[in-house]
Amino acid sequence: MNRLFAGNVTTTMRRRLIAAGRCVESLSPSSAAAVDGSAMATRALCFPLGSTRMVSSFPDVIAPKSTEKGKRDQKKGGGGGDVVVSSYWGVVRPKVMREDGSAWPWNCFMPWETYEADLSIDLHKRHVPKTFTDKFALRTVKLLRIPTDLFFRRRYGCRAVMLETVAAVPGLVGGLLLHLKSLRKFEQSGGWIKALLEEAENERMHLMTMVELVKPKWYERLLVLAVQGVFFNCFFVLYLSSSKVAHRIVGYLEEEAIHSYTEFLKDIESGKIENVPAPAIAIDYWRLPKDATLKDVITVIRADEAHHRDVNHFASDIRVQGKELKEAPAPIGYH
Ligand SMILES: [Fe+2]
Ligand SMILES: [Fe+2]
Repeated sequence: MNRLFAGNVTTTMRRRLIAAGRCVESLSPSSAAAVDGSAMATRALCFPLGSTRMVSSFPDVIAPKSTEKGKRDQKKGGGGGDVVVSSYWGVVRPKVMREDGSAWPWNCFMPWETYEADLSIDLHKRHVPKTFTDKFALRTVKLLRIPTDLFFRRRYGCRAVMLETVAAVPGLVGGLLLHLKSLRKFEQSGGWIKALLEEAENERMHLMTMVELVKPKWYERLLVLAVQGVFFNCFFVLYLSSSKVAHRIVGYLEEEAIHSYTEFLKDIESGKIENVPAPAIAIDYWRLPKDATLKDVITVIRADEAHHRDVNHFASDIRVQGKELKEAPAPIGYH
């Protein structure tokens, strides 16, 4: 087992995999391949993931989109691109396998980053605004929702794409600033850097999933550019000024995200949006059954948003009590 985890697989991955009892096998020595003369062995990791579906092949009912996109993404590196680069550096990704022996098709995420969403989370929990900053944060989010409602109305696919491009920013900014603080002060972050960056990555995977379903129009892409430019800088300054308010705003944004995805689900249930098969990337990332549908995907994304809501309100509560985030255990892996 230890041999299997040597090399490129980190201690964290090892811990998580052992805990989950998932990684069970390495390739036999005879299958180890020398790479470009460096004699670096190619390792294989095996995972009991049920899905063997690798290419998105569903019709796009939210907005027309060619199924070739998913195939192109996989070739470009989102999936299992087979581009061979000649280099003497000997940098090679371990060969990752599923339990059934098929190759892991994604380069953009690995099996140890996948999980089953906790659907038991309370979706109705709300943070009741008590202080001035709570009310300011809630009012800010409600104001931000007005143009979103006017622009997207019930086009929940496009709305989700825009929402996710914004939602993936706060975790990155928070993680970045905590990282810099850790360097400046020669102190640990208590795991919060990792927790916030995990959130950002999770949000980005929401986006990668949604763009398999929705093809944004040129002006929506332009809007994303403008919003990202403004939002990143505003949130950066806000987090530097008051991480308490910043996390509270994100907590309320996540509450709005839960509401949006609930409305999305209502439209799927009523038949306004066709319940198409789930994209391959979503089936693998959330370990969904092979016959999962759009409804299943939106359900797990909504559960993720509820977890982000908890994390950010919790972070704000820590700061409200005058403590540093590092003083409370960071919710790493809280999905
Ligand atoms: Fe999200
Ligand atoms: Fe979120």
